[in-house]
Amino acid sequence: MSTRILGIESSCDETAAAVVSDGLEVLSNVVASQIEIHKKYGGVVPELASREHLRQIVPVVREAMTQAKMQLTEVDAIAVTQGPGLVGALLVGITYGKTLAAALKKPLIPVNHLEGHVHAVFLEAHRAGRKGEFPAVCLIVSGGHTVLYEVTETRNDGASDYQALSYRKMGQTRDDAAGEAYDKVAKLLALGYPGGPILDRLSSVSSAPSNGATNGATPPVRFGPTKMRGNALDFSFSGLKTAVLYHLREHPEYSEDIRIRQEALGRGENTFEKLLPLCDGQTLALIHEFQRAVVRTLVEQTMAAAETISAESILVSGGVAANTELRSAFEKRAVSSAMEVFFPSRALSTDNAAMIAAAAYSRFRAGLLADTSLNPDPALILR
Ligand code: KG4
Ligand code: ZN
Repeated sequence: MSTRILGIESSCDETAAAVVSDGLEVLSNVVASQIEIHKKYGGVVPELASREHLRQIVPVVREAMTQAKMQLTEVDAIAVTQGPGLVGALLVGITYGKTLAAALKKPLIPVNHLEGHVHAVFLEAHRAGRKGEFPAVCLIVSGGHTVLYEVTETRNDGASDYQALSYRKMGQTRDDAAGEAYDKVAKLLALGYPGGPILDRLSSVSSAPSNGATNGATPPVRFGPTKMRGNALDFSFSGLKTAVLYHLREHPEYSEDIRIRQEALGRGENTFEKLLPLCDGQTLALIHEFQRAVVRTLVEQTMAAAETISAESILVSGGVAANTELRSAFEKRAVSSAMEVFFPSRALSTDNAAMIAAAAYSRFRAGLLADTSLNPDPALILR
C-alpha cells in the first residue's frame, strides 16, 4: 500500500498544495501564484503575502485533493514547510497543516524548503526514468537563495525503500540571490516583475550566433567574473546589479526607452510580446551580457564544487533553474565532465508543494514528526 502525503507550501509568494505517493509519484500539484499582487511593488511584500496565503490556502488544498481524486481522510500524513522563508507566510501554512493533522489525527511532518527543492529534482528524474548517483552537488538558485550543497546518502542499505540524505553547505551568496539580481535588473530596465522569465527570453532574442556578438552588435559592456575572498565557492550578485546600474547612468541613451517601457508597464503591457519591440539592440545586448555573467558564475562555481568532492551528479533547482541558458550551459559542461546533470521540469523549478510532500516521505518513514508545538523557523538550516 502506498504512502500518500499532502504537502503544503507557503514560505514566500506561492500558496501551494500537492499529494505525492511514496515520495515520487505526483498525484496532484496546485500552485496559486501571488505575482499579480506583488508586481506593482517590484518584489514580495511580506504582509500582503501572508494575507493572500490566508485567502488561498483552503481552496488550494481542496483543489489538490480534487485533482488527486482523494478525500482528506485518505492521506497518510500532512507535510508543511517549516522554513526558511517569511515568518508570517510560513505561519499560515503551518497553522493550517497543524489544524488539519489534529482534526484528522494524521502525522505532521515539518520540511525544510531547501530540501524540497532538492527533491523537486528527484521527482523529475523519476518521471524520466533516471536516477542520480551520490555524492552530488546541488545548486539551489532562486529569488531568495543561491546556495551550493554537498548531498550524500546516509541510508540506502537495501533493506529500506526510502532514501535518507544529508547536506553540507559548500558555498552561498554573500548578498543578493541570483533571482533577486534578475528581478532588480529588470526593475532598472523597466521590464516588470519577476525579472527572470522575461530577461531569459529577451536574452535569447539577442543571443549570439557563435562569435560572441549579439544581433551583430558587440555587447555595450563586459561584466567580468567576481573574485571572492575567503570561501571561493561563495557567490556575490549585488556587484553585477550595481554594474548594470552604473552602466545605465553613464549612458543616457537608454533612458528614453526605459521611460517608454515604464509607461507600457503602467498600461499593463508587461508581456514579452509587448516589451520586445520597446527594446533596442543595445538593451538586448546588455541583457544578454548580464545573463551570460550570471550563468557563467553559477556554472563555474558549481563545477568547482563538484570537482572538490568528486561528485557523481549535479542537481540544479529553484526558480532560476528554469533559465534556458543555464540549462544548456550545464548540459554542455556535463557532457565534457562525465557527470550527470539533473533539473526539475520548469513547473517544479519554482516553488511548489509536490517537492515538500516528496521531501517529507523519508522523514515520515524515519518517524521524524512534529506535534502541535511546531513553529516557523525563518532561518532554518539544512543539514
Ligand atoms: O524558487 P522561486 O519560485 O521562489 C523563490 O524561492 O524565490 O524563484 C523565483 C525567482 C525569481 O527571482 C525569478 O525572477 C527567477 O526565480 N526566475 C528566473 C527564471 N524564472 C524564474 N530567473 C532566470 N531565468 C528564468 N527563466
Ligand atoms: Zn524556493
